[in-house]
Amino acid sequence: MSNNSVTEWFAAQMVRIFLFVALLAAGPVMTTSGVLFAASADQGTVLITGANRGIGLEFTRQYAQKGWKVIATCRNPGAATELQMIAGEHPGVVIEQLDVTDHPRIDTLAEKYRDTPIDVLLNNAGISGRHLDSQSAGRIDIDVFNQVMAVNNIGPLKMAEAFLDHVAASREKKIMTVSSSVGSISKPFGGGYIYGPSKAAVDIVMRSMSRDRSVTDRGIIVGLLSPGVVDTDFMKGVPMPKISPQESVAGMIAIIDGFTVETAGTLRRYNGEVVGW
Ligand SMILES: NC(=O)c1ccc[n+]([C@@H]2O[C@H](COP(=O)([O-])OP(=O)(O)OC[C@H]3O[C@@H](n4cnc5c(N)ncnc54)[C@H](OP(=O)(O)O)[C@@H]3O)[C@@H](O)[C@H]2O)c1
Repeated sequence: MSNNSVTEWFAAQMVRIFLFVALLAAGPVMTTSGVLFAASADQGTVLITGANRGIGLEFTRQYAQKGWKVIATCRNPGAATELQMIAGEHPGVVIEQLDVTDHPRIDTLAEKYRDTPIDVLLNNAGISGRHLDSQSAGRIDIDVFNQVMAVNNIGPLKMAEAFLDHVAASREKKIMTVSSSVGSISKPFGGGYIYGPSKAAVDIVMRSMSRDRSVTDRGIIVGLLSPGVVDTDFMKGVPMPKISPQESVAGMIAIIDGFTVETAGTLRRYNGEVVGW
């Protein structure tokens, strides 16, 4: 090799190394045509319920930005404008129609994705039952109670059952459910006979799953998340200091990343604290 050839070869190697390091540092990179071409191959797949607004939308955005494949589910994809925009910018995001109380639809979706490993099944969809009147002693509306239980407790259980094989086939193997500290039996205040119990119920369901040998023997890690008081439609008009969905979700993604067999079955606040039952 002549001196010139050696210099050219060396320069080419340096450029390659530089590009490689730059790609690693940059994470997912978009081409002008919007095609994800780097750093996504090694990321996982997350399925999110209630992905069209609030915390679920922010989960979708942040996982997409990290280069994850996102199966973003919501009740009405046609009206999910912001979610559609995220999907337009990130080819790894697909939108699927799903109401978590529609069990046949859950089964159909599970069948559709039968060959897709799902690293994180993220049960996020939830409702409060809103009308606080229907949640105070003497005025409890059992229809509202049943509806809140169907979304907040039975929905996540049905999702976990339907997608168990998909999670078991993945690398991360995580089933995560957004709960609330309001579900803690030791909470210091009274009242709230519907929403709190629905979250307490999903806590015990997921805690039980995290200790179920038929689940854990497959390497599946089941965990619970408490997002803090977050500025979404859910908390509209509630006079409490709130954090942004961005802060809450960034914290929860770090918690999800850090969940292990040892910490499975705990309820973790977005900032890492363990929430007592
Ligand atoms: N925000 C807070 O401070 C806070 C605190 C503690 C816990 N959480 C929990 O965090 C989760 C997300 O709350 P958020 O603040 O993002 O609430 P949000 O802004 O009200 O969003 C709720 C999401 O759940 C979806 N959803 C409702 N019923 C559904 C159903 N039957 N099937 C599928 N999706 C359904 C909604 O879809 P539609 O648009 O179709 O209604 C929406 O995407 C909930 O589980 C909530 O309990 C929130």
